[in-house]
Amino acid sequence: MTILIDQPHFGVEVQEKKVPIDEKELSLDGGFLVPQTNSFGHTFRDYDAEGERQEGVENFYRINHINQTYDFVKKMREEYGKLNRVEMSIWECCELLNDVVDESDPDLDEPQIEHLLQTAEAIRKDYPDEDWLHLTGLIHDLGKVLNLPSFGGLPQWAVVGDTFPVGCAFDESIVHHKYFKENPDYSNPAFNTEYGVYSEGCGLDNVMMSWGHDDYMYLVAKENKTTLPSAALFIIRYHSFYGK
Ligand SMILES: [Fe+2]
Ligand SMILES: [Fe+2]
Repeated sequence: MTILIDQPHFGVEVQEKKVPIDEKELSLDGGFLVPQTNSFGHTFRDYDAEGERQEGVENFYRINHINQTYDFVKKMREEYGKLNRVEMSIWECCELLNDVVDESDPDLDEPQIEHLLQTAEAIRKDYPDEDWLHLTGLIHDLGKVLNLPSFGGLPQWAVVGDTFPVGCAFDESIVHHKYFKENPDYSNPAFNTEYGVYSEGCGLDNVMMSWGHDDYMYLVAKENKTTLPSAALFIIRYHSFYGK
């Protein structure tokens, strides 16, 4: 998959018209080889593999799929968009994240802070000159603090896991799709058609995604007027979205 996004803006006016079109694209899969195992020797996100965590992961998605409704997401976005919880530095937040366990990830037994640093360093290796991308990797999961009491102590199903659009039919490619049958939106004619409350070509910006750490960190960055480029906000907002 190649994602087309705005070119990061570095505060210097370049001669826009002379930039060849392909330099305006950030090809996120350009030459990147997907490794079979992580640095701890474990395989990645195999939701069907037999394993100690598999049952817990499936149960996590059952509760997640039942509860992530259009109205719930709307309420959460309004509430957390106020940013009236806690003020802290990025590094303080990284350390705080170590108190959070991600029950949705079949692989991740390592502390969260390891994951943040590994992500940032791996990106630095592949894209040494894109410092904004290193920082984006470092902060991409900070929204998981939603799970902690000072941020409202949201349950795991409202913090982690793959994300998907709400307000339209749940796509069959979403992991453990069968559990959506118990979601009230599944049988609501306003929400259960291909486009639901949206119109064709309305743009991803106008689509509400299931609520969790991605959307929360996006709101935090945006409302605090981050100087990160729009590509960084895109990555933060959709990094758990595995759409087809
Ligand atoms: Fe994440
Ligand atoms: Fe992550």
